Amino acid sequence: MSAKLQAPRGTYDVLPEEATRRAGVEAAAHRILGAAGYRRIETPAFEATELFARGVGSSTDIVQKEMYTFEDGGGRSLTLRPEGTAPVARAYIEHGMQKLPQPVKLWYLSSFFRYERAQAGRQRQFWQVGTEAIGSDDPAVDAESIVLLAELLDALGVREVRLRLSSLGTPATRATYREELQTYLRAHEDQLSDEVRARIDQNPLRAFDADHAGTREVMQGAPLLLDRLARDDADHFAAVRALLDGAGLTYEVDPTLVRGLDYYARTVFEFTSDALGAQSGVGGGGRYDGLIEQLGGPATPGVGWAAGIERILLAAGEQAVAQPVVDLFVAYADEHNRATGFQIVHEARRAGLAAQLELAGRSLKGQLKQADRIGARWVAVLGEEGATVKDSDSGEQETVAPGAVVHHVLRGRTL
Ligand code: HAM
Repeated sequence: MSAKLQAPRGTYDVLPEEATRRAGVEAAAHRILGAAGYRRIETPAFEATELFARGVGSSTDIVQKEMYTFEDGGGRSLTLRPEGTAPVARAYIEHGMQKLPQPVKLWYLSSFFRYERAQAGRQRQFWQVGTEAIGSDDPAVDAESIVLLAELLDALGVREVRLRLSSLGTPATRATYREELQTYLRAHEDQLSDEVRARIDQNPLRAFDADHAGTREVMQGAPLLLDRLARDDADHFAAVRALLDGAGLTYEVDPTLVRGLDYYARTVFEFTSDALGAQSGVGGGGRYDGLIEQLGGPATPGVGWAAGIERILLAAGEQAVAQPVVDLFVAYADEHNRATGFQIVHEARRAGLAAQLELAGRSLKGQLKQADRIGARWVAVLGEEGATVKDSDSGEQETVAPGAVVHHVLRGRTL
């Protein structure tokens, strides 16, 4: 016997039960985001590697160690998308969306790929639902986008949600602050973890993220970017907060909030759920006012977020999945009734009924059991005298001509 093949590590099959729960996420996203004027977009599963190197940032973990990069037959370097913002920004530029009324509000639900250590809630292929609103720096766009994610998580029953919020200011403010922080970290170098020390030059902000006790202690006295914001950025952040306060949203300002992508400027936020384990981030995002320009487009502001579908479902807990409706099950005692049954089921579906036919050669008893298992409301048994149709709700039973079964069920449904 040959060895059994399995799905690659960090990937999984979406089985029908799970697919039903995911469909619920998609329907809620459609309803909530659609009502706010967001329209669906889907970009390709792979892009030119350069898009992520330039968009996400070459010093990020994502670009340095997590991308699935390969060369195609034509020698081009391509990468399975690790995230959705850079591709949507690329599409915005490519399709000249700056000519549309701004902001252009888009949403997506797609699969993404990151070579990470796989564990519960962290996969190598995962799904995100996300939004991008491109073309306006109005603080109301930030606030609207945050409120929409809060609403979506709430509608999906995600438990114990917390929102953290901060502002990163502009790249210029950040550059000055970065030097200040580097000087501070160097002055405390001997107390830092090896990893943080090795990244003082490349990514000093990540020090706020460290679990290492010594590093944490040093970071308590570290200068904060939030205290160094330029006037405009501080005003922008205050306006976002005032709108969120007005909307009654609870949040915590966390000046140490760091995101793993380089394109952010001004507002950043993260939703976590205490119902999750180590991977508590359900969704996050922020403003990326320099990204479009960095990718070769006109200077254009943007803000958005993405939330992991697997984590949403984990944090929503086991919720009863509604069984699909089955109106009619057609059973038959004798094989020569199969063609008639096939016809009835076909006709029933064309009339808009959910109908199924016996397909496994079960005994009549087995067929009735199957009808019960799938919760069919009507069961038609084809026999010598015609079709005996039973309404499992009322228990009523009637024998009709095979050609009249569909009519009988339709009439029963409207009663
Ligand atoms: P991100 O924080 O990298 O942001 O990912 C957003 C969410 O995707 C996370 O909060 C988490 O729920 C989920 N996620 C990320 N990696 C994995 C994984 N390996 N397995 C399972 N779930 C995962 C972004 O991707 C940005 N593009 C968000 C954004 C949109 N910012 C502005 N616009």
